[in-house]
Amino acid sequence: MKNILITGCSRGIGFETVKRFTNTLDVNIFAISRNLKGLKKLKKECNQINKKANIHIISADLSEFSLVNNIISDLKAQLNGKLDGIIHNAGYLIKKDFNKLSFKDLNDSFNINCFAPFILTQKLIPIFSKNIHVVSISSMGGVQNSQKFPGLSLYSTSKGTLITLTQCLAEEYKNTGFKFNCLALGAVQTEMLNKAFPDYKAPVSAAEMGEFIVNFYSHGAQYFNGQVIPVSMATP
Ligand SMILES: NC(=O)c1ccc[n+]([C@@H]2O[C@H](COP(=O)([O-])OP(=O)(O)OC[C@H]3O[C@@H](n4cnc5c(N)ncnc54)[C@H](OP(=O)(O)O)[C@@H]3O)[C@@H](O)[C@H]2O)c1
Repeated sequence: MKNILITGCSRGIGFETVKRFTNTLDVNIFAISRNLKGLKKLKKECNQINKKANIHIISADLSEFSLVNNIISDLKAQLNGKLDGIIHNAGYLIKKDFNKLSFKDLNDSFNINCFAPFILTQKLIPIFSKNIHVVSISSMGGVQNSQKFPGLSLYSTSKGTLITLTQCLAEEYKNTGFKFNCLALGAVQTEMLNKAFPDYKAPVSAAEMGEFIVNFYSHGAQYFNGQVIPVSMATP
């Protein structure tokens, strides 16, 4: 049975990804988010799909780095074996004109979109299984030479760091069996997209993207390492 850690599971793409995992594979899922209500709802829905689904919910704020060791201990206490996957999905979007962005905005964005996946990966390496697949969820906005949008300079810059991190880790660990890949998503219908583009209707639902992420986690490591894959029908 695979042990997979997924961040940002209380709603949106993370929520739907966990549901698709329990539908398709024999997995132990460790689901992290702050909102306990959303996580409990997720666990309930997963158990309705598959009574045997093992969903361990961890309510934690990933920007509280002083608590990262607690998250790791919590995880290790419940983990039987090693970690076979991480989906770095939690994300934070702020839409603001560049000249209005504050230092707090910078901290909030980089804490979740950059530092949390960086630190979590670093701390979890000792419990990686030899064939772990780490999938980071970035954005088309963070891809070099992609179309950019006013008000999203901080979001796109911070998501760009996940792309670079993926490529660096794939190189640094190329002599192990670890695989690091990054999915750069286009528009997916979620709360985050509504915040960025209120009047826009995305061509892809969170459930559809969740399905794609599960497939990519399951098969992508056989064909890709250190790659950034645009998963985009459209950006607004
Ligand atoms: N939707 C799109 O069009 C789109 C496009 C490109 C990329 N993406 C990326 O896809 C990923 C999922 O996005 P989404 O659209 O599903 O967003 P969403 O609906 O806003 O969900 C974001 C998730 O991240 C979690 N999160 C945020 N801050 C956190 C913190 N401090 N600690 C722990 N968890 C935290 C939230 O949980 P809590 O609030 O409960 O903590 C929530 O479950 C993100 O990385 C996003 O950047 C989305």
